[in-house]
Amino acid sequence: MKISESLWSVLRDLRETCAAGDERGPLLTMRHDSYAFVDSSDAVQASDVVFSGAGTSLDGWTPVPIVDGGLVMQLPPGADRGLVRILQLYVPLCSAKHFFPDRPFVIAHMAQSVDGRIATESGNSKWIGNEANLVHAHRLRALVDGVIVGGATAKQDLPSLDVRRVSGRNPARIVLSDTFNDAEQLPVVEGRKTILIRSSNGIPGHEYGADVKVITYDGNGTESKIPVVLELLRAEGISSILIEGGPTTTESFLSAGAVNWLQLHISPILFGSGKSVLTLPSIDAVNEAIRFRNAFYTGMDDGIMITGQV
Ligand SMILES: NC(=O)c1ccc[n+]([C@@H]2O[C@H](COP(=O)([O-])OP(=O)(O)OC[C@H]3O[C@@H](n4cnc5c(N)ncnc54)[C@H](OP(=O)(O)O)[C@@H]3O)[C@@H](O)[C@H]2O)c1
Repeated sequence: MKISESLWSVLRDLRETCAAGDERGPLLTMRHDSYAFVDSSDAVQASDVVFSGAGTSLDGWTPVPIVDGGLVMQLPPGADRGLVRILQLYVPLCSAKHFFPDRPFVIAHMAQSVDGRIATESGNSKWIGNEANLVHAHRLRALVDGVIVGGATAKQDLPSLDVRRVSGRNPARIVLSDTFNDAEQLPVVEGRKTILIRSSNGIPGHEYGADVKVITYDGNGTESKIPVVLELLRAEGISSILIEGGPTTTESFLSAGAVNWLQLHISPILFGSGKSVLTLPSIDAVNEAIRFRNAFYTGMDDGIMITGQV
């Protein structure tokens, strides 16, 4: 999925504008679960236009107006549907700061094989997604405040979680783990902080430099602690989070009802074995399944990506 540098710079600009905006500014009404696209023939009040400032403009587009508490983008006649799909994917993230007052907006993204595996039995997962997915993942990183991985992924992959494939700001790197204590092993990324989140029962942390912050919460590392973890991150100024796995971490956020958008990149490869993308408590009937709401798919070269609210 290609995005021109100028469109990407508009999106980054929009994100900075939203991030700098008042808590109660008009952009507040852009919600993670409410947006729509209308044709330019539909009546939308020009006075409702709020997408402005910071020199931001989308060529040929009427800026983004607000209708009934949702986000409406007015398409110019003959609008390019590919562009619509790009905006559908990224614009809500740009305004994520305003979705919830007391906790961050959470999107979880993972790359899986068609048979639902995210790593081999030995834990190798580089790379299941294709190049388009890697670039997309870096765009997501550039639009959120922090990226979380679990302790096993931190130990196995020593991820940099930076935005080296796109231009933009590196998000905070957040590791959720009671046993990971090797932040100095992680690749150094200039000008960004690493946050280690652990319970008070975790192994005592050692002293780190100013670019590593250890946050300790009370009790064991269980699902019930996820809301506490989110509150603590919000207090750190983190208002949007990307969960990049692994499955154990994503599952615990899902089980706690803390994931707003789930996004799965499906690659045309078959493992036939390996680690499952998600293992949740068993259900008896299909109607007990977690069904994505407002789901949409995006073509990613030879793969596809499904995004939805959960
Ligand atoms: N395909 C992909 O998109 C993708 C993405 C990421 C990772 N991976 C692969 O996934 C594998 C690792 O996944 P995994 O499921 O085994 O482990 P993981 O989710 O990376 O890490 C699990 C650990 O994270 C901590 N943790 C998770 N949820 C927690 C919670 N609610 N409260 C407190 N701590 C929590 C715990 O660490 P402590 O035990 O230290 O407390 C837990 O043992 C690796 O092979 C990696 O390469 C694949």
